[in-house]
Amino acid sequence: MTYSIAMAGKGGTGKTTVCGLFLDHLVKSGKGPILAVDADANSNLNEVLGVEKPVSLGDIREEIARSELEEVNPIPPGMSKQEYMDFRFSSALVEENNYDMLVMGRTQGKGCYCFVNDILREQLKKYYQNYHYLIVDNEAGLEHISRGILPPVDLILLVSDCSRRGIQAAGRIAEMIDELDLKVKKVGLIVNRAPEGKLNSGITEEIETQHLSLIGVLPQDPLVYEYDSAGTPLVKMPETTPVRQALGEIIKKLEL
Ligand SMILES: Nc1ncnc2c1ncn2[C@@H]1O[C@H](COP(=O)(O)OP(=O)(O)O)[C@@H](O)[C@H]1O
Ligand SMILES: [Mg+2]
Repeated sequence: MTYSIAMAGKGGTGKTTVCGLFLDHLVKSGKGPILAVDADANSNLNEVLGVEKPVSLGDIREEIARSELEEVNPIPPGMSKQEYMDFRFSSALVEENNYDMLVMGRTQGKGCYCFVNDILREQLKKYYQNYHYLIVDNEAGLEHISRGILPPVDLILLVSDCSRRGIQAAGRIAEMIDELDLKVKKVGLIVNRAPEGKLNSGITEEIETQHLSLIGVLPQDPLVYEYDSAGTPLVKMPETTPVRQALGEIIKKLEL
């Protein structure tokens, strides 16, 4: 059985950061094989992980569309178009150190994600059962979850900044998850960038008001800023840095 984890939360709250460090923790605890999916059209999970950005499903789709326009046929003789597309799309799944990664990307121009969404759904259906864990970095919306692009989600990690309005926004997302009847087994809140990793009473009250289930708090960590601004992958931060320590505690508590 594959345990699937998806990030949710508004933009800039730390979804990609948490996703990358979470994945790194699972990998280092020997929990593989793991499939990491970057389902944000503006993909940047690879930066946190310090790996080359893999060719995305969107890139491949573009390449095929372009070759049709230019009437150059990239399809090797003896291969049908469908076979060629399957072959190309499966090559988007790249092997990293102890995990695999798939990047959705986007289609240029027309602004319609439906096609890449469909490919992502098909690719995931094909592969996800080969892994112990599936971990998905998402963009702000719930689109990938609500449209059934992801396989059944076991755990949604709702990431919020440490502000009353942030918690209220997380509350609205949790409500939407309920309303959409997404059959998610668990939705847990992570409050990120808390000063010294502590919540004051106002924020704690708001979490209760919003009926959110808090699974942990991550501190504002100066090392994240330092690494981020230097363009150094965050997975290279020492294990002892506060944000990693706190995330380790969260993962322990989740009993994955
Ligand atoms: N705990 C933290 N301490 C300091 N900076 C953080 C922390 N978490 C995230 N950040 C910074 O916040 C910004 C947004 O994080 P990111 O993970 O890209 O958010 P999202 O994926 O939700 O848009 C990044 O510059 C990141 O380095
Ligand atoms: Mg992100």
